[in-house]
This record gives sequence, structure tokens and C-alpha cells, in this order.
Amino acid sequence: MYHLPTSKRTTIRKLIACSTGIIAAILLFSCVAVNRTIVAPPSVPGATFVGNDDCSFCHEDITKRFENATHFRLIAEGKNTTEIGCESCHGPGSVHSETGGAYHTIVNPKDSPETCFVCHLDKRAEFNLPYSHPVTEGNLSCSDCHDPHEGSAIMGGGTKPLSEEQTCFECHQAQRGPFVFEHEASREGCTVCHSPHGSVNAKMLKIRNANLCLQCHLQEQTTPGRVLIGGFSHDSLLSRGSCWSMGCHEAVHGSHVNSTLRF
Ligand code: HEC
Ligand code: HEC
Ligand code: HEC
Ligand code: HEC
Ligand code: HEC
Ligand code: HEC
Ligand code: HEC
Repeated sequence: MYHLPTSKRTTIRKLIACSTGIIAAILLFSCVAVNRTIVAPPSVPGATFVGNDDCSFCHEDITKRFENATHFRLIAEGKNTTEIGCESCHGPGSVHSETGGAYHTIVNPKDSPETCFVCHLDKRAEFNLPYSHPVTEGNLSCSDCHDPHEGSAIMGGGTKPLSEEQTCFECHQAQRGPFVFEHEASREGCTVCHSPHGSVNAKMLKIRNANLCLQCHLQEQTTPGRVLIGGFSHDSLLSRGSCWSMGCHEAVHGSHVNSTLRF
């Protein structure tokens, strides 16, 4: 067997790591370089860029809060390369500004996720998966879960008062509890089990079978054919269906009657 000398191997590894990084970056933000440049903000007929300072005249509060936002760092490319973070999502604002905020003179990404997809290409694909939040249908917008103007764009990050799961509870009361018997899994957040954008699995589950649960619950194979989970024998149970169906752990978010989350 042939072995590369260590130095060569690390160089190759670095090269691979580097090129994977570059490819990933290109795929993710095909129109964006994170160090303060973007290429393609949405367009508004007849309008040019005016910059954040202009917006702050009439939207002072939002502009002030925006300074610590994830997207603050984004800047459009062109002559006007400074301080047009707002317009990277709202499009050029000169007409809007000159008309004192006339109707339909500025893009509002609440109306359509297309603005976000321009830079987050991969998200379009996620929302087209068979099971997804109905964002492309217009029943829900990205900003129901992401704050575009303050702190981390992911609710619960940065200085936002809502945690990630509080965001989910805004619409999904039934999973909030309080339950007599909580499933401690939910303390890790809803996204240990659900892909919030979309999934190939029903109920937007990350994994469609027992492996979803076995992420945390150790499966002990004592002798062939003998399986213990949580100290209990699960021999042949696993072949019957998923852990949360068929009268098994149906109360997967928490239960009022049963500590083993049966119902
Ligand atoms: C001269 C005042 C003025 C300036 C300058 C201004 N706006 Fe507005 N803007 C308004 C008014 C008035 C409204 C409508 C009332 C409201 O929603 O607050 C508005 C509404 C908006 C809306 C909501 C539009 C909708 O259809 O839902 C957005 C988005 C917006 N402005 C972004 C901006 C951005 C970005 C800038 C800077 C490029 C800017 N504004 C500059 C006055 C202004
Ligand atoms: C990452 C994209 C993005 C950036 C950057 C951005 N916005 Fe917004 N903006 C949105 C979205 C999304 C909404 C719709 C929010 C909602 O109501 O759900 C919005 C809504 C608004 C509104 C309508 C009123 C409101 O609060 O909903 C105004 C005004 C506004 N933005 C101004 C600004 C200003 C001023 C800046 C820069 C300081 C800015 N935006 C930067 C995405 C962005
Ligand atoms: C002009 C390009 C651009 C647009 C338009 C844009 N984004 Fe982003 N977004 C980025 C970049 C670049 C990053 C990565 C920033 C970083 O990691 O510092 C990012 C990061 C994010 C994150 C991750 C934040 C975090 O804290 O990890 C979320 C969520 C997000 N964007 C949502 C949105 C939503 C929702 C919209 C539409 C309202 C939107 N973006 C519009 C370029 C854009
Ligand atoms: C139902 C709530 C919800 C909606 C709607 C939603 N997101 Fe997210 N998004 C999340 C959560 C929660 C995370 C944190 C990721 C995780 O923990 O898996 C996230 C993460 C992200 C990230 C950063 C991590 C990553 O996956 O790249 C981006 C970018 C993003 N979302 C963009 C968007 C865009 C664009 C839209 C609208 C087209 C959108 N999201 C709609 C809940 C949502
Ligand atoms: C703004 C409201 C809203 C928020 C916030 C929200 N959802 Fe939803 N969710 C919906 C809607 C609407 C549906 C689609 C319901 C339907 O099709 O009957 C849905 C569907 C779901 C489903 C699939 C239900 C089914 O029967 O197939 C799951 C799972 C889910 N959401 C999890 C989450 C998680 C996890 C979060 C937080 C990251 C979240 N949701 C945040 C509105 C929301
Ligand atoms: C341990 C994994 C796990 C965690 C954590 C989890 N879920 Fe679920 N969730 C599931 C499973 C499994 C199903 C499918 C249940 C079924 O088909 O009967 C489901 C179904 C759902 C549904 C559809 C409800 C229905 O009646 O069909 C919603 C909505 C939902 N979850 C929201 C949430 C929210 C919100 C959180 C965070 C508080 C969360 N889930 C955390 C595993 C989980
Ligand atoms: C994020 C980690 C995590 C995931 C994923 C997870 N659980 Fe749990 N689960 C826990 C923790 C922690 C406990 C409490 C400690 C314990 O009993 O092991 C628990 C407890 C339970 C209990 C109660 C056990 C008892 O005897 O009291 C059941 C039943 C259960 N989980 C079923 C499931 C099912 C079914 C799934 C998959 C849908 C799942 N868990 C996924 C972390 C997780």
C-alpha cells in the first residue's frame, strides 16, 4: 500500500476542504459574498438606491434596530456600495422615499418569499419538498419565523425574546403543554425531530423511522434478536411500524396520562 507523506496529505486535505468550502459557498449564496457585497437585490421600476440613512428619516426605529441584524452586513454592488442594507431586501428606494412612502413603491418580502430565495436558493428547494410549511402557497411567510430586522434572523437567537420553540408555539398550541408527563426531547427544541422548512417525510420529520428516536435513546442489542430500549424489551416491536404509531408512543410531545407517552 502506498502512503502519502503527512505533509502532502495535509496539503491535499486542505485543498479538498478549501474547494468544498468554495463550492458550498457558491451553492449557498450564488449572488452573495459575505464580506459586504451582494449582486442582485430586487428591482423597482425607475428607482435607484438611496441608502439606509434615507430610510431612517421615516423608519427610525427599524433602522436603529437593524444595526445588530444578521443581514446588516449585506450591501449591494455597484456605484452605490455603502449602506444600502435595507434595499438588499426591499429593492431600490428612491421613488418610495420621494413619494413619502406611496403604495407599491417598495418591495415587501412578506408578500412573497421570492426576495429571500434570490440569495437563499437552497430554501426554494426545501419548500418544494412533499411536506413543507405552506410558504410558497402564501399562507405563511419567512418572517413568521425569522426576524429580518433585529438580532439573529433565527428567532430566539441574538437579542430576540422568542426562543425557537416559542416561535413554533405561536401557531402550534397543542404541542406547548404543559403536560403531566413531558417528553424531555422537546427541551432540545422542535428541530431535533422536525425540519422546519420541509422534508420528504410526513409531518416534516427529519427521519421517517425509529432512527429518529434512536438519536437519543440507546438501542442495546444484548444477544442477537434481543433489543432493549430504555431498559425495556423491544423485541419484534420495531418491525411493526414507527415508534409513534400503532398504539405505541403516540403522545410523542408529552402525555397527560402515561409516563411512557403511549397516549
Ligand atoms: C419620506 C418618508 C419615507 C422614507 C424616506 C422611506 N419610507 Fe418606507 N414608508 C413610508 C410610509 C409613509 C409607509 C407606509 C406606512 C407604513 O407602513 O409605515 C412606508 C412603508 C414602507 C414599507 C411597507 C410597504 C408595504 O407595501 O407593506 C417598506 C417595506 C418600507 N417603507 C421600506 C422603506 C425603505 C427600505 C426605505 C429606504 C430605502 C424607506 N422605506 C424610506 C415612508 C417612508
Ligand atoms: C433580510 C431582508 C430585509 C432587510 C435587509 C430589511 N428588511 Fe424590512 N422587511 C423585511 C420583511 C421580510 C418584512 C415583512 C415583515 C413582516 O411583517 O412579516 C419587512 C418589512 C418592513 C417594513 C414594513 C413594516 C413592518 O415593520 O413590517 C418596513 C417599514 C421595513 N421593512 C423597513 C426596513 C428598513 C428601514 C430596513 C433597513 C434598516 C429593512 N427593512 C431591512 C425584510 C427585510
Ligand atoms: C441579498 C442577499 C440576501 C437576501 C435578499 C436575504 N438573505 Fe438571508 N442571508 C444572506 C447571507 C449572506 C447570510 C449569511 C450571513 C452570515 O452568516 O453572516 C444570510 C443569513 C440568513 C439566515 C441565518 C441567520 C443566522 O443567524 O444564522 C436566515 C434565517 C436568513 N438569512 C433568512 C432570510 C430571509 C427570511 C430573507 C428574506 C426576507 C433573507 N434571508 C434574504 C443573504 C441574504
Ligand atoms: C416554520 C418556521 C420557519 C419558516 C416559515 C421559515 N424558516 Fe428558516 N428556519 C427555521 C428554523 C427553526 C431554523 C433553524 C434551523 C434548524 O435549527 O434546523 C431556520 C433556519 C434558516 C436558515 C439558516 C440555516 C439554514 O438552514 O440554512 C436560513 C437561511 C433560513 N432558515 C431561511 C428561510 C427562508 C428564506 C424562509 C422563507 C422562504 C424560511 N427560512 C422560512 C424556521 C423557519
Ligand atoms: C405562523 C404560523 C406557524 C408557525 C410559526 C409554525 N408553523 Fe408549523 N404549520 C403552520 C401551518 C399553517 C401548517 C400547515 C397545516 C396544515 O397543512 O394543515 C403547519 C404545519 C406543521 C407541521 C406538519 C403538520 C401536519 O399535520 O403535517 C409540523 C410538524 C409543524 N408545522 C412544525 C412546526 C415547527 C417545528 C415550527 C417552529 C420551527 C412551526 N411549525 C412554526 C403554521 C406555523
Ligand atoms: C422527539 C421528536 C419530536 C420532537 C422533539 C417534536 N416533535 Fe412534533 N412530531 C413528532 C412526531 C414523530 C410526529 C408525528 C406524530 C404522528 O404522526 O402521529 C410529530 C407531529 C407534529 C405535528 C403534527 C401534529 C399532528 O397532530 O399530526 C406538529 C404540529 C408538531 N409535531 C409540532 C412540534 C413542535 C411545535 C415541536 C416543538 C415544541 C415538536 N413538534 C417537537 C416528533 C417530535
Ligand atoms: C433529543 C433527544 C431525544 C429524542 C430525539 C427522543 N427522545 Fe424520548 N426522551 C428523551 C429524554 C432525555 C427522555 C427522559 C429520560 C429518559 O427516560 O430516557 C426521554 C423519554 C422518553 C420516554 C419516556 C420513557 C420513560 O420510561 O419514562 C419515551 C416513551 C420516549 N422518550 C420516546 C421517544 C420516541 C418515541 C422518540 C422518537 C419519536 C423519542 N423519544 C425521541 C430524549 C429524546
